[in-house]
Amino acid sequence: MTVKIFDTPQVQDFLNTVAGFEQAGGSDRAKRIIHRLLADLYRLIDDFDVTPEEFWATVSLMNELGKGSQFGLLAPGLGFDHYLDMRMDAEDEARGLSGGTPRTIEGPLYVAGAPEAEGVARMDDGRDPDGETMWLTGLVRDTDGQPVAGARVEIWHADSKGGYSHFDPSQSEYNLRRTIVTDAEGRYAARSIIPSGYGVPEGSPTDRVLAALGRHGQRPAHIHFFISAPGHKHLTTQINLAGDPYTWDDFAFATREELLVDGRVIEEASEAEQRGLEGPFTEVVFDIELARTEAQELQSRHKRPRALEESTD
Ligand code: DHB
Ligand code: FE
Repeated sequence: MTVKIFDTPQVQDFLNTVAGFEQAGGSDRAKRIIHRLLADLYRLIDDFDVTPEEFWATVSLMNELGKGSQFGLLAPGLGFDHYLDMRMDAEDEARGLSGGTPRTIEGPLYVAGAPEAEGVARMDDGRDPDGETMWLTGLVRDTDGQPVAGARVEIWHADSKGGYSHFDPSQSEYNLRRTIVTDAEGRYAARSIIPSGYGVPEGSPTDRVLAALGRHGQRPAHIHFFISAPGHKHLTTQINLAGDPYTWDDFAFATREELLVDGRVIEEASEAEQRGLEGPFTEVVFDIELARTEAQELQSRHKRPRALEESTD
């Protein structure tokens, strides 16, 4: 039998008690947010006639997500990361700070403390037997077209199987993770390997949530960037290598037209030699435009718990 009790005074009073409204201590913001969240969920339980079995199965799923540190993996799949981007884009627009290369999600797989290099770095450890050589390069400029020397370009990406070092223990420390400081002309360059697309671990709690929605957990091949320079807005972004079947079917909703890059296969020995490479390679060019800002708080990445990053609180 379906009953509806949400709108009764008993339930409303109960919600106020649960959210701590009758207590002097605690945080006002926390109380109001928890009150709203619980009210929405209590109403949902009423409206969908959620059974105790369904409720406790959900609790158990959340425990599994937590045990596997999977909330960070599921969040992009549920669109939260992209939704926060949409909000930051709207804020930038309202502040007159639009322009430059667009942002897109950070994802959960950044690791702090990667080795740093001036101008050019090799990112791969040379141990991936399927690694196809990639030459990744570009110019960092401001929105007036002036080169930005000394910009910090942090790059991280997956290997030929879609795995990220640190999270994939079979890879060496900081494999495919580097910070490159742009040279006097504003240029960065990296020797690396072409990344494969990524998929959430098969059968994982995240995968099961997506399967319940009839969705997959695949991402197209992509390369992550943080770019920062004094006087410029910090940029978190990614490029997608064009031609991937998941380009417009990314479970994390990170693809943007302006961030699609075509790799160019180069076979001439002289071109390889110029770059210190031994054979054919794929060149990937990503030029970056940074918006100018004097606001200090916009010049660094937002705080969030990140692997091996010291807590700033
Ligand atoms: C996820 C993984 C990624 O590599 C990424 O860029 C975004 C999201 C994930 O597992 O949720
Ligand atoms: Fe990623």
